[in-house]
Formats: sequence, structure tokens, C-alpha cells
Amino acid sequence: MTQGQWIRRVVKPAAIVLSLVPAALLLRDTMSGNLGSNPIETLTHRTGLTAITLLVITLTVTPATRLLRLPALVQVRRVLGLLTFCYATLHFLIYLADQTVFAGQGLSLAAVGEDVAKRPYITVGFATFLLLVPLAVTSTKGWVKRLGGARWLRLHQLVYAAAAGAVFHFLWLVKADTRLPAVYGVLVVALLGYRLAVRRRGSRKRTPSAAAAEGSR
Ligand code: HEM
Repeated sequence: MTQGQWIRRVVKPAAIVLSLVPAALLLRDTMSGNLGSNPIETLTHRTGLTAITLLVITLTVTPATRLLRLPALVQVRRVLGLLTFCYATLHFLIYLADQTVFAGQGLSLAAVGEDVAKRPYITVGFATFLLLVPLAVTSTKGWVKRLGGARWLRLHQLVYAAAAGAVFHFLWLVKADTRLPAVYGVLVVALLGYRLAVRRRGSRKRTPSAAAAEGSR
């Protein structure tokens, strides 16, 4: 089996199955009424935690392709990104249901808008979710072609802003113990630092004319 086939046939399906385990456990615990005394809170926490974890794992794929010399690993990045978006959407929908239907208010988007504007950690969570939308929409090969590689890459750098937003959202909402959000913060800073270092090394290696041509794009 070539490296590409191994990634496509073994690593990618394994990554998908593992990423779906939290959803399967959520479904099992929901069906069996095993979500504790505040089911909505449990669902919000578990979907939020899975979304930020998958987001950080998605960010590690590109450095891993270099460090492990496994360029074909890039094939799992898109599906991990889409699964991140699915968990973030579920997280948002649970919040939306909690604020509206479960609060006996019907689907009042004005009330949701008010809450988003009023509570800073919700504002940041919402902005983070909005950043993930164009990334999910443009994740297909068709969009890479339509936008052109350079523009697509520039757009997808938004993923770092989304990761920073997710960390701030998490840091902001915890009341006392900030250790877990801090761990995610350190991971995101390290991944961003690695990316910037690789980019700086790349631009130093490039000839001045190539760098100028790139700068004029
Ligand atoms: C649509 C926007 C979002 C809203 C309205 C929202 C809302 C919430 C709420 C209400 C909580 C629970 C707060 C508490 O119990 O005190 C929460 C927790 C959390 N959210 Fe969000 N969120 C949003 C987007 C996101 C996104 C995009 C991510 C990550 C990619 C995320 C990650 C988290 C995490 C990690 C937690 C904490 C989980 C834990 O305590 O274990 N959220 N969010």
C-alpha cells in the first residue's frame, strides 16, 4: 500500500470514526436519560469541548504532515474541519433551543441577538462560529479552484482567528479553574508560532524576485 492509500483507506476512516465517538456517546446518554441534573448544560459543555478539541486537532494536521513526513495526511484535514463545524453547529443549536423553545419563548431571534450582544463570552462564541461558516462552505475542491490556491489559503488562515476566538470564549466562561482553557490556549499559540516560523523560513529561502512577485499578488 502506498502512503496515500494507507492514509485514505485506514487513517481517514479511523479519524472519522473516532471523531464521531463523542456524538455517539451524547446520543446514548440522551436516550438513556444519563445527562445529569442539567441535561442542556451537559450537552452544551460536551459539544463545545468536542468542537474546540477537534479544531485544535485539525490545526495539528499541517504541522504533522511536515514533522512526520507524511504529506498525504493532508487528506484528513478537510473532514476533521467539517466535523468541527458540525459539533460547533450542534453546540449553537442547543444554545438556541435553550434560549428560545426550552425557555418557553418560541423562536425569538431578537431575544437571541440581545443575549449575543449582552454577554461577552457569547459574543465571542458567536463570532467564532461565524468565522467557521465560510471555512466549512469553501472547504471543497470546487471552491479551491474557484478562489484560486493563494486566495483560498489566505481565507483559510481565518482558522487561527477562530481557534483564538474559541479559546477566549472558553477562558471567559469558566468561573474559577482556567487550567483547561489555558491548555488549549498554549496549544493554539504553539501551532500558530510553528506556522509563522515555517513561513519566515520559506520567505528567507525565496529569491528576492520570487518574494516580490508573491507580494504583488
Ligand atoms: C454560536 C456561538 C456559540 C454560543 C452561543 C456558545 C454558547 C456557549 C454556552 C452557553 C456555553 C456554556 C457556558 C456555561 O455553562 O457557563 C458554552 C461553552 C463552551 N463553548 Fe460555546 N458557544 C458558541 C460557539 C462556540 C464555538 C464555535 C466553540 C468552539 C469551537 C465553543 C466552545 C465552547 C467550549 C469549549 C465551552 C466550554 C465547555 C466546558 O465547559 O466543558 N463554543 N458555549
